[in-house]
Amino acid sequence: MLNKIAVIGGGNIGGVLVQEIVRRKLARNVALMDVKDPELAKGKALDILEGSPVLPADIKVEGSKEYDVIASADMIINTAGVPRTTRPDGTIPTREELLATNLKITDSVSAGIQKFCPKATIISIANPLDAIVYRLYMNLKPPREKLMGMAGVLDSNRYSYFVAEAAGVSVENVQALVMGGHGDDMLPIRSACRIAGMPVEKFVPADKLDAIEERTRKAGGEVVKLLGVGSAFVSPAWSALEMAEAIIFDKKKIMCVSALLQGEYGVDGLFIGVPALLGANGIEKIIELDFTDAEKEGFKKSITSVQKTKEEVIAMAK
Ligand code: LAC
Repeated sequence: MLNKIAVIGGGNIGGVLVQEIVRRKLARNVALMDVKDPELAKGKALDILEGSPVLPADIKVEGSKEYDVIASADMIINTAGVPRTTRPDGTIPTREELLATNLKITDSVSAGIQKFCPKATIISIANPLDAIVYRLYMNLKPPREKLMGMAGVLDSNRYSYFVAEAAGVSVENVQALVMGGHGDDMLPIRSACRIAGMPVEKFVPADKLDAIEERTRKAGGEVVKLLGVGSAFVSPAWSALEMAEAIIFDKKKIMCVSALLQGEYGVDGLFIGVPALLGANGIEKIIELDFTDAEKEGFKKSITSVQKTKEEVIAMAK
């Protein structure tokens, strides 16, 4: 159990996060911060507190629109930013189209973290994922262990679910890994996908796997379309908590996170989704996978897309 976790952004993901942090008793104190609406975070905090006797959980939950509520948090989960939502003409923006708006928000989030809890471990969920994490890095310059983005965990969970459904087996039997940026070029790693330790191809035919991998790449948009307003929020929140629990309980658990590469995979200075070992110190190790030739090409393509958005982030900072 940590002393304090602060969630920045009181939207749908923030609401699920605080609810689950209390239910799972991950910290003695939980803060929910939202700048937009003066009463929103307070209301969500009070609602959860009033339910706490049911659990029961003696956890202090505080909501505010002021950054001082996050003071001395050990862990920050950043959800602040506008989500993707269906436009009036029925089309859906890419995550990258949120960049300009969400960078401004990220700069104020960075200032809040810098002032009130500069040593906190940060898990960021806002989109475009890898670019927002890069901006947090530009602003805060934390050690690489302490800053990571949540995307690969969600994308891998989506891939797992689709495979389990197609194979007619428990989700507990499936191990899946999706690497690269959190965009249309993300890379489901078929060679690493296993069902009860056996190659996935033994259970699901190749053409079905092609379709599943395509669906995985577009899975965020599929939910946006179905919801009508906003984007997925339960699976992203649960996925971020899978990372938080690996750190809080020092699990040494390997999962795909957006991490700062410093020479791994021949890349330097870019945040992108790679398998990493998470423990009490945050990112304790980055694991370099032996790709097939096709996977190597796919990863290169994803790097190019993420690099392009990173350059936009740098240009917009000038
Ligand atoms: C998604 C958003 C959260 O993939 O990026 O659903």
